[in-house]
Amino acid sequence: MMVRDLSFYYRRSEDITLEHINFDAEPGKIMGILGNNGAGKSTLLKCLCRILRPHHGSVNVSGTDMLKISHKSVAKIMSFLPQETQAINLTVYDTVMMGRNPYIKLGITREDRNIVLTVIERMKLEPIALRFLHELSGGERQKVMLARSLAQNPKVMLLDEPTSNLDLKNQYEVLSLVRKICKESNIIVIMVIHDINLALKYCDRFLLMKNHRLFAEGGKEIMTNQTIESVYNIPVKIYTIENERFIMPITPP
Ligand SMILES: Nc1ncnc2c1ncn2[C@@H]1O[C@H](COP(=O)(O)OP(=O)(O)OP(=O)(O)O)[C@@H](O)[C@H]1O
Ligand SMILES: [Mg+2]
Repeated sequence: MMVRDLSFYYRRSEDITLEHINFDAEPGKIMGILGNNGAGKSTLLKCLCRILRPHHGSVNVSGTDMLKISHKSVAKIMSFLPQETQAINLTVYDTVMMGRNPYIKLGITREDRNIVLTVIERMKLEPIALRFLHELSGGERQKVMLARSLAQNPKVMLLDEPTSNLDLKNQYEVLSLVRKICKESNIIVIMVIHDINLALKYCDRFLLMKNHRLFAEGGKEIMTNQTIESVYNIPVKIYTIENERFIMPITPP
């Protein structure tokens, strides 16, 4: 996937929200997007999958320009998990089935049902499969929306803070599952995530955004004190514990 010179503004009169964004993303790799609140991370994801139309630039997946094809065609290639999800009046099963929408022609097939049931099982959602979304907790709902994204069988999975509502165990379980699917199915995962230490554990590549621009891009080697401090304006210390890197802010007591 190649993103070239992407620019976007919400209103012509206002400041530009994304300025000259360039990066590549590879299948089988998870790319973590990090950056300060308001940096433009959610806007970038929405521009990649055409929810918002960039004013300049291109998004190319295996030779197809995402900005030149229909929304339905984009949905066969990319899934998008928004930062906030609404409590719609549907059961968990039907919500996950919505992920099959881009493929359904005349009616739901046995294959659609099998895919949905497999995803529900892998996400451990069987106990709540027939409950309504508005009766679930925020974290349960977030898992259901991720399941819907998985059922879409995308080549590129865009996730906007997929673990923000999850408890400790679910954060690790869900991200290991995403990582497993990314590697097994050789798909591209691009994920906005605020927890730097979860990002360090599960992401292969990093895209650091600051104030509407790409500040740094690369592997774990770019996650240094200097870059993190510049992005977030807070001093940090890096610890290595059992060969894993942890970043902690240095704050007054
Ligand atoms: N619908 C909108 N209309 C106008 N401006 C918007 C709209 N949505 C977001 N913005 C502005 O665009 C900028 C980028 O917002 P965006 O939601 O992409 O940030 P973000 O990096 O995802 O932040 P966060 O970490 O808080 O989720 C912000 O300054 C925000 O106020
Ligand atoms: Mg956001």
